[in-house]
Amino acid sequence: MNQDIIIADNLEQSLAEAIGKVEHDKLFVLTDTTTKELCWPVVKDYAVIKDAIVITIAPTDEAKTLETLAKVWTALQKSGATRHSLMVNLGGGMVTDLGGFAASTFKRGMTYINIPTTLLSQVDASVGGKTGINFGGLKNEIGVFNCARCVILSSTFLRTLDRENLLSGYAEMLKHGLLSSKEDWAELLCFDISAPDYATLQTLVAKSVNVKEQIVNEDPTEKGIRKALNLGHTAGHAIESLALKEGRTVLHGYAVAWGLLMELYLSARKCGFPAKEMHQMEAYVKEHYGKFLYECKHYDMLCDFMSHDKKNHGSSINFTLLGGIGDIRINQIASMEEIEEMLDYYRES
Ligand code: GLY
Repeated sequence: MNQDIIIADNLEQSLAEAIGKVEHDKLFVLTDTTTKELCWPVVKDYAVIKDAIVITIAPTDEAKTLETLAKVWTALQKSGATRHSLMVNLGGGMVTDLGGFAASTFKRGMTYINIPTTLLSQVDASVGGKTGINFGGLKNEIGVFNCARCVILSSTFLRTLDRENLLSGYAEMLKHGLLSSKEDWAELLCFDISAPDYATLQTLVAKSVNVKEQIVNEDPTEKGIRKALNLGHTAGHAIESLALKEGRTVLHGYAVAWGLLMELYLSARKCGFPAKEMHQMEAYVKEHYGKFLYECKHYDMLCDFMSHDKKNHGSSINFTLLGGIGDIRINQIASMEEIEEMLDYYRES
């Protein structure tokens, strides 16, 4: 993966170094209205970026559309951007996904740098080159794999996040811990994310990103082992879709945390994942994330959402499971009976 990950103790210096490494004619910064207000003021006076042309889009996943993308392309065109211009995406996953796609496609591709400002985007979205937009009612339907030249991770921005958004990102870190080792996972369970020590959090973020980086380096375009990063997401996306349909607000990481529990049950059932660690994870998730409630009448819909997941071929449902912590089993096919059992287990637990 041709992507530098910088843990920024000094954001100004890291940004100057990152931008200095890329020859460019014009510099652009993409923000959304939230990060324009909360995060742009942190960097806007830095010498290296103060003359950049700032493009601002609407926030939240609803704005991750073709219309917003066209607005960014238009702004780039009107400001005379070329293939040799440089884009800095300053924001959460929506900004880094859409901005990465806009940069990757404008004039067949300009270089971009990500400065993710949420925990979720620091440990997941901004790293590994997945870019894109939602389309035709489906999330991330159109996009390309193309890595940011550099991702700058600074705990400065994490201080502006509320507990829910910290927990949302932390679910992806728990996933990386499960994929990595018992030590990494246990360290995450011990850390107090509700009242975090930000220096320690920064160290944990670096470790977590390293887990993702290693997997992505092995398989940048998700032909094989990168599917490991989908742990918790087959069930988690189904929960998100059901919540959306019923007008219930659910943050992505919460759905991932609940999805992890469901998929650890399947892991125990099909691959021998230890019950003790499954129950430890259950206790942690219930304490911090609560529980997503559904009824038997929702099973068909949940199964339907799972079968529409992008990584499935045909009608079977493909999961990433674990034989134990760090023992990754991709391409596990579960029968409808096993999936219903999983839904029963979670509902009744
Ligand atoms: N979010 C999972 C991946 O980047 O592959």
